[in-house]
Amino acid sequence: MRSPSRFLPCLALTLAACGGGGGGEQIVKPIDTIPQLPTQSLRQLAETRHPRVAIGVAVGGLFQSSNARSQQFMTILPREFNALTPENDLKFGPLRPTRETYNYTRADAMVAFARANNMKARGHVLVWHQQNPGWLTNGTWTRDQAIQILEEHIANVVGHYRGQLAAWDVVNEAFEDGAAPLRQSVWMQRIGRDYIERAFRAARAADPTVALYYNDYNIEGLGAKSDSVYELLRDFKARGVPVDGVGMQAHFIAGQLPATMRQNMDRFAALGLKIQITELDIRVPTSSVGGASAASLATQAQNYRDVFNLCLQVQACDMVVVWGMTDADSWVPGTFPGQGDALLYDAFFNPKPAYTAVRGLLAGN
Ligand code: G3I
Repeated sequence: MRSPSRFLPCLALTLAACGGGGGGEQIVKPIDTIPQLPTQSLRQLAETRHPRVAIGVAVGGLFQSSNARSQQFMTILPREFNALTPENDLKFGPLRPTRETYNYTRADAMVAFARANNMKARGHVLVWHQQNPGWLTNGTWTRDQAIQILEEHIANVVGHYRGQLAAWDVVNEAFEDGAAPLRQSVWMQRIGRDYIERAFRAARAADPTVALYYNDYNIEGLGAKSDSVYELLRDFKARGVPVDGVGMQAHFIAGQLPATMRQNMDRFAALGLKIQITELDIRVPTSSVGGASAASLATQAQNYRDVFNLCLQVQACDMVVVWGMTDADSWVPGTFPGQGDALLYDAFFNPKPAYTAVRGLLAGN
């Protein structure tokens, strides 16, 4: 294939100057047949060819920090992505170290950056069993007091960002794995199962337009856990509890994508719900000498393409968020020793085969 650099300079000149108008050899292609330049970013391709589907990334410690890696991160962020999710800064513990203190500084900067760069921002997360502050988990709250804390939190945080976010993860990971009973979180123990419904109603009261999501992992394919979430949301829809979408986290293992993801997405969509892939990463074995094998990275690349393609195919799906930019900044190796390299960029911000595969999909190749 012809190298873009061989004919690109001619685009700035007249055709005649490039040999196109004088009867000599035609070395300039007409503009409408010039192939996609490889420099088109994921964002550019998505916005021109698939405007329904936003491409997001979780932003954490590298956001506006004073080091070289942060500068690389901040350059790539608005070039390649048109959505972001604060990875930790909106969680109950980091956001609210005491009952009286709401520390919005970092999350505000992320949301402001998104707005300034015409990117969407997802709110993650209002109600979860992890990353809660000691004052909350150690307190001896009555049910009424716990309800008051839950509702004051949601009113303050959702109200703070009213009109600025594309979506909120209102409740995260309420179900256990396996037979999928409700998880015995601080909220379940102090309030009971109606904490979920109360959270959605409080969020809607604080922002009438933001899309409200239930978010979880291991609910991407058919199974006991996605059945439980399906039944919860079917009941909410039937009773008018305000829920707009289901977030499928998609923390996957290369070569092990759920085979029934399309059917599962279709049944949630049939309830009238939107779908977002909210925390995509696809891990590979990294313990071999030299790190991840080329074969595992090729499988990972195909899997990334498959997940993005599902979102392009299912009309109800309007966003895919990858859970971090580089392999060096992912939660995966710390949680799954011997596994990692789960993202689109390697530790040095080089695009991986997974990046190329997603770009090829978006470009129609
Ligand atoms: O910021 C502190 C730092 O001040 C301190 O020195 C350091 C010492 O451990 O901890 C830092 O906080 C860590 C934080 O990430 C920021 O790096 C926490 O310990 C660590 O637990 C936290 O991990 C996050 C994890 O959620 C918490 O469970 C990961 O970054 C984040 O990627 C992960 O994301 C979750 C989603 O929210 C929900 N779905 C699952 C997903 C993966 O676990």
